[in-house]
Amino acid sequence: MNSKTKKPWQIDGATLEDITPEYYFINRRRFMKNSFRAAAAAALPFKAWGKGLSYPAKVNDKYKLSGDSAVLTKEDIATSYNNFYEFSLDKDGVKSKVGAWTLDKNWQVEIAGLVENKKSFAVDDLINFSGASLEERIYRFRCVEGWSMVVPWTGIPLSDLITKLKPKSSAKYVKFQTFGDKKIGPNIGGLSQYPWPYTEALTMEEAMNPLTIIATGMYGKALPKQNGAPLRLVVPWKYGFKSIKSIVKIEFTEEKPKTLWSSLAPDEYGFYANVNPKVDHPRWSQANEKILDGSFLPKRKPTLLFNGYEKEVAHLYAGLDLKKNY
Ligand code: MTE
Repeated sequence: MNSKTKKPWQIDGATLEDITPEYYFINRRRFMKNSFRAAAAAALPFKAWGKGLSYPAKVNDKYKLSGDSAVLTKEDIATSYNNFYEFSLDKDGVKSKVGAWTLDKNWQVEIAGLVENKKSFAVDDLINFSGASLEERIYRFRCVEGWSMVVPWTGIPLSDLITKLKPKSSAKYVKFQTFGDKKIGPNIGGLSQYPWPYTEALTMEEAMNPLTIIATGMYGKALPKQNGAPLRLVVPWKYGFKSIKSIVKIEFTEEKPKTLWSSLAPDEYGFYANVNPKVDHPRWSQANEKILDGSFLPKRKPTLLFNGYEKEVAHLYAGLDLKKNY
């Protein structure tokens, strides 16, 4: 069951390049490109260099995975099996439905609520404002529906952005909102029982945890529309529905915000939504997960508490009954 038997690509002490051959070549090209870029940057004035987001970004080695999670999900699977309810309830249908959406090159993210820097930013400006450089991190990604992927995201720690935005001391939660334009997402007009726009929220401590990132890319490129372009949240110890896509607003609040799923079905979706193999969803057992790696017969593996990130996040929930407040 649990793969103690090593697969040919799982080598003790192997580097990412060793275990994912496809990626190896990309990384070699990346090395050449980065060396060239560094030389070019030295010759350019700083302003020109700081403009725009460039891919691929430097890999942050701290977030490489090993063992059962060493193999990346193939890019074409992660970018064609999607949950993006604004477009389609059918996971295989999202990619084609986003085709008609022309991404606004001047996409704005509004910063609102209990925060000093209350204003709208273009995506590049928001990332630059954080002071952080884009980096690549490989995270486990676990959906409450019982499947999982391993994805290389490109982004910045949300904590860097929050620090620069200067929330007030009364801010206890961070709320995120997706666009609510019916002309973009056909289901926003069509599925009227859903409390659109899609909203999600974290406690301030969760938002400041070093694992929480704002992603603008995946697989060494800008995010495809179906995965939440131009920017999304990624919270790897929580079920995937917390990782809200295509963000237009970030708001700091004192009260716990309402979120789309916990408003729609409070008995099924908790606010915390931490991955927990001991608490089943009414429709899906959470004890184990189907690894979506493209195999004809996908393997399963036992699900880990906090999706394997227990060391990094368990302290956030010290006083909580994890059977109730999962
Ligand atoms: N964000 C928005 N705006 N709309 C959605 O329907 N689905 C969530 C999350 N973020 C969703 C969303 C769910 S249920 C999951 S599992 C992940 O996005 C899926 O992300 P992926 O398509 O990149 O795998």
